[in-house]
Amino acid sequence: MVILVTGGTGYIGSHTVVELIKNNYDVVIIDNLSNSSKDVVNKIEKITGSKCKFYEADIRDENALDKIFKENKIDAVIHFAGYKAVGESVKKPLDYYDNNVVGTIKLLETMKKYNCKKMVFSSSATVYGNPKVHKFDETIERGKAVNPYGATKIVIEEMLENLYVSDDTFEISILRYFNPVGAHESGIIGENPNGVPNNLMPYIQKVAKGELPELSIFGSDYNTKDGTGVRDYIHVVDLAKGHIKALEKLDNKKVYTYNLGTGKGYSVLDLVKTFEKVNNIKIKYKFVDRRPGDLDCYYADTSKAEKELGWKAEKGIEEMCKDSWNFAKNM
Ligand code: NAD
Ligand code: UFG
Repeated sequence: MVILVTGGTGYIGSHTVVELIKNNYDVVIIDNLSNSSKDVVNKIEKITGSKCKFYEADIRDENALDKIFKENKIDAVIHFAGYKAVGESVKKPLDYYDNNVVGTIKLLETMKKYNCKKMVFSSSATVYGNPKVHKFDETIERGKAVNPYGATKIVIEEMLENLYVSDDTFEISILRYFNPVGAHESGIIGENPNGVPNNLMPYIQKVAKGELPELSIFGSDYNTKDGTGVRDYIHVVDLAKGHIKALEKLDNKKVYTYNLGTGKGYSVLDLVKTFEKVNNIKIKYKFVDRRPGDLDCYYADTSKAEKELGWKAEKGIEEMCKDSWNFAKNM
């Protein structure tokens, strides 16, 4: 089977390409390198010993998509390409709608044209908005977006459901990620955002390397065990494996939606302390005000993915911290 991976040189995409190759899929990547580098293609080859086809192109470029679908018999698409920075989305909402929503429309139009009807889509726990419970399961309705980035994920989920109603030969799986962290055990690929990171683990990595002086912990007065925010961190390799399971399970009976998390919540301090312990490094931190828009505590109910996909995250927080540092220290 030939799988087109959009955003395949990015953080989650690259780890998923490795798992696809390990599972004997042929992979074609499209990425415009807006948030990754071409080098990743060689790194994937180094890990797997296999080549994958790479197109440097934008998913909004219909001619480029045409060329890819003409040159390759694409059986299914795993769609990662998009912008993901919450803060930036508030400043540049139109760019986010254009890249994430318009990009997905162009991709789906081309898929239709070439009768490719299978898609696994990268969504986010952010689509739940701010429900009253901490444990999010898939029966909770999509909430109100807290930022434009989240809004694009909600729009795309709804669009995919509408598309299926109009044409039930589509086979679609929507995966809602919680907080992906960690890196491939080889240390060859991982998360390396440009500039000052927004997310916790990349920020910790930069403090550990001495590239940033200290971590600011956003809020120490949440109603959690130690006052800091609680999230469900999931190792990116577990997450990548979830995509293979979702791909294998695709059928046209309905649009499937799954949470991908571990089901466990850890606080910011849990993550910092674990990183310090397993890597034997001190992380300097200070407490500052809460970050606007942050929720206090949430984690995934993973029972649906476990039951229907036969998938369960296997790696714990110690491995996440170890692998993150194993990658970052060599960067
Ligand atoms: P990433 O930025 O590392 O990867 C995205 C890749 O897509 C990058 O390589 C980028 O160059 C590429 N890209 C962006 N726009 C493109 C376009 N128009 N055409 C072609 N390529 C394009 O991000 P990631 O963390 O790997 O996230 C992948 C997906 O998962 C995104 O859709 C993101 O919204 C979603 N997601 C991520 C997280 C997270 O915390 N990392 C959480 C929930 C959901
Ligand atoms: N945090 C800090 N200091 C930092 C960065 C983060 O204390 O410098 C805290 C946050 O307040 C939060 C936790 O660390 O309590 C995790 O924050 P992240 O920014 O790493 O992740 P978020 O949970 O805010 O958001 C992530 C993705 C979103 C996605 C969401 C879905 O960044 O794209 O998960 O669950 F929508």
